[in-house]
Amino acid sequence: MRLSPRQHHYLQALGIDVYKIRNTEHTGPGRQGTDLKSVPASTPAAGVIEQDNAVSAGGIAPQTENGDVAGWEELQRKVAECRLCGLYEGRTQTVFGVGDVNADWMLIGEAPGAEEDRRGEPFVGRAGKLLDAMLQAVGFAREQVFIANILKCRPPKNRDPRPEEVVACSNYLEQQINTVKPKIILALGRVAAQNLLKTETPIGKMRGKRYHYGDPPVPVVVTYHPAYLLRSPREKKKSWQDLRMAMTIYKEQT
Ligand code: URA
Repeated sequence: MRLSPRQHHYLQALGIDVYKIRNTEHTGPGRQGTDLKSVPASTPAAGVIEQDNAVSAGGIAPQTENGDVAGWEELQRKVAECRLCGLYEGRTQTVFGVGDVNADWMLIGEAPGAEEDRRGEPFVGRAGKLLDAMLQAVGFAREQVFIANILKCRPPKNRDPRPEEVVACSNYLEQQINTVKPKIILALGRVAAQNLLKTETPIGKMRGKRYHYGDPPVPVVVTYHPAYLLRSPREKKKSWQDLRMAMTIYKEQT
């Protein structure tokens, strides 16, 4: 994996060490050009190996067909007008999601915060900046993935979503996933992971395993929420392991 200066910068922001190896054999890039499979098993858990002869990350996202533009617009309209639970009363606006509707990677968070509620876009606050850095570290720009939340409206004072709110919103997320048809889903944090995968297992126990969502099954990888990583920067190394695992699973399918 050859890293651009920008990726070096983002890995530094994540607290990840970069180890340099010269003249190693290259197994060839995948569709995104990021070949994490080429990182030997002996790679220090939290580090990344830079290979001089590898192709740099950050290629153009492959086009996938979903075609149903009218259905997507209809879904956006339904979300914008939604009053299925009480959260509509306190919102400035709904936060539908953002990114490439044909994306291979879909990232799912919990619910909009104050800044997201103001701007109508997920992950635009401090946690969003860190999420962007995490994406950059595996070679993606925010525009190349699709980012959504379990809830489309901000809960008051950012409290945890209530079960009835999750149920009311679940159809929207399901339709988003069915339209985007991602090759991998990254669940960001406990609330996203537990609600998506219908489990009460603590997030620490969910990490490092491969899950599936829906039928046909989409692989799901669980990682810490970026807001938690801001509070607990030592855990960033674990999130880097999760991202590498997600990339490995993704590459298996392309
Ligand atoms: N946290 C989330 O889970 N989602 C957002 O959109 C912002 C912060």
